Amino acid sequence: MDYKNILQKCINKICYITINRPKYLNALNNLTIKELSHALYSTSKNKTIRCVVITGAENKAFVAGADIKEFSSFNKTQGSQLSKDGHEKLFNIIENLAIPCIAAINGFALGGGLELAMACHIRVASINAKLGLPEVSLGIIPGYGGTQRLPNLVGKGIAMEMIMTAKMISAEEANKIGLVNHVCKQEDLLNICTSIAEKIKRNSSSAISSAIKSINSCYKTGVNGYDVEIELFGKCFETNDFTEGTNAFIEKRKPNFN
Ligand code: CAA
Repeated sequence: MDYKNILQKCINKICYITINRPKYLNALNNLTIKELSHALYSTSKNKTIRCVVITGAENKAFVAGADIKEFSSFNKTQGSQLSKDGHEKLFNIIENLAIPCIAAINGFALGGGLELAMACHIRVASINAKLGLPEVSLGIIPGYGGTQRLPNLVGKGIAMEMIMTAKMISAEEANKIGLVNHVCKQEDLLNICTSIAEKIKRNSSSAISSAIKSINSCYKTGVNGYDVEIELFGKCFETNDFTEGTNAFIEKRKPNFN
């Protein structure tokens, strides 16, 4: 598939996806969501890819939200569908991806943009980034998972305040409240994400996929995360990576995971 609104390149088993609508601050329109969904699906089927990094084109924005112009005339049914499609086609897919996904937040991450970053497994922000969920200033609520993932990441009280005030916070503030893991200079952002991805790459990909599944189960209603952990822990013992990892330890060498 040829993409119009995203760029994709894979280097050393790391797939870099750039949302490329800088004229509109990389706002997520329908086509961009479709393309991201397709790119992530095909990446997840490519067994050689070990990590995904998502960022925004140019220096101003990661993603400034869902495309307001596209939904400004929507009715209730269309509004619900917009939200449902976003959850099903993109945001839930990223959260449950078997490959680690890092958000490289290079500028504004607002509304759907922050929601995209929050669906990723790890977030790194450049110092110029501004983060927020301004939806209530538009007469709507966050619709791509923000009311669920923000309290999970920063706690209910801070999430309530951020959503109700619609305020933007700095990268440093986001780091203080646990919304992003690291803050760096803009020119270092992709290098830092790459170095995290390189560390991840040294470890067992099958164990990492199971860890993502087990951690995510902590946030699923009606699911006992401890039971999920017990089951997935047991399954690890059937993998080649378990044999390689434990043999390498005993033989006092570095493991060689494929
Ligand atoms: N949707 C559509 N277009 C957007 C956009 C968005 N979310 N954000 C920015 N743009 C467009 C602007 O309309 C403008 O295009 P034109 O030149 O054609 O008018 C262009 O990008 C540049 O933006 P600005 O001129 O506004 O740039 P600025 O530097 O003055 O302001 C900003 C930057 C503060 C980020 C401002 O653009 C802004 O407030 N954007 C909207 C942020 C927002 O409300 N996001 C939430 C969207 S709703 C949502 O995401 C719902 C959901 O959960 C599903």
